Amino acid sequence: MNRYDLKDKVAIVTGARRGIGEGIALKLAANGARVVVTDIDENDCQKVVDKIATAGGRGLALKLDVTDEKNIKNVIDRVSETYGRIDILVNNAGIFAQGELDKMETSVIDRILNINLRGLILCSKYVIPIMKKQNYGKIINIASIAGFVSFDISSIYCATKGAIVNLTRELATELARFKINVNAVAPGVIETPMTGNLLANNEVSKALLNKIPYGRVGTPQDIANAVAFLASDDSEYMIGHTLVVDGGWIAQ
Ligand SMILES: NC(=O)c1ccc[n+]([C@@H]2O[C@H](COP(=O)([O-])OP(=O)(O)OC[C@H]3O[C@@H](n4cnc5c(N)ncnc54)[C@H](O)[C@@H]3O)[C@@H](O)[C@H]2O)c1
Repeated sequence: MNRYDLKDKVAIVTGARRGIGEGIALKLAANGARVVVTDIDENDCQKVVDKIATAGGRGLALKLDVTDEKNIKNVIDRVSETYGRIDILVNNAGIFAQGELDKMETSVIDRILNINLRGLILCSKYVIPIMKKQNYGKIINIASIAGFVSFDISSIYCATKGAIVNLTRELATELARFKINVNAVAPGVIETPMTGNLLANNEVSKALLNKIPYGRVGTPQDIANAVAFLASDDSEYMIGHTLVVDGGWIAQ
């Protein structure tokens, strides 16, 4: 359903070849936005753009590895040159890894920090000057309930998501005077390739479901609905907020 008016807005979504990012890209496009679908694999992004086109929307597929600063800068320049503006940035790319900290390879720690946090920071850094010039923009960060409550042996992942909640609040106050809204969405457990292994394990799946008062895991559409709201002017007066979409996990 097209609830929000995003007609002709230009949106970039990171990590959008599948899962929550794909859901967000499809939703923004269904609401009228021109969506730049980005991820580490451009062919997969093109498949999402094909789905957008089949549904009557408009999109562009570009390779964007959020650990590669040069790649980030080039993609943002290219989008800005192609469309003349960038209205919406959805920082969705992220990885999940569990492990006791003392047993975790430092390279794994660096990778989680680089993708989940540094990548989000750099994508924002390069898009902000464009949004400042427009005196308009929406930056939406995908955090997690793991930014608020503990999640089984995943300290580094939780640290990145907690940092995203704080960064969202701080950056939002910095940018509000430029009419740039920075907000976040904190998903609960959502059925995507990221959670595929966890949910495939009956015992784990049952334990997770027990924590969700609403009685089901979430879908990428549940998250995309919240993102579409934050991307629209219906949320104009929301600054630095993290919207929890978790079926009630942290409300208990
Ligand atoms: N699935 C959940 O239960 C859940 C819960 C809370 C938060 N989240 C967050 O939602 C976001 C999306 O997760 P998902 O569940 O769709 O997972 P996913 O693994 O299906 O999708 C993540 C995407 O990020 C991309 N990605 C990985 N490294 C990248 C890089 N260096 N540059 C660009 N893209 C990269 C992947 O290719 C993939 O397409 C993540 O930030 C995740 O932490 C997910």
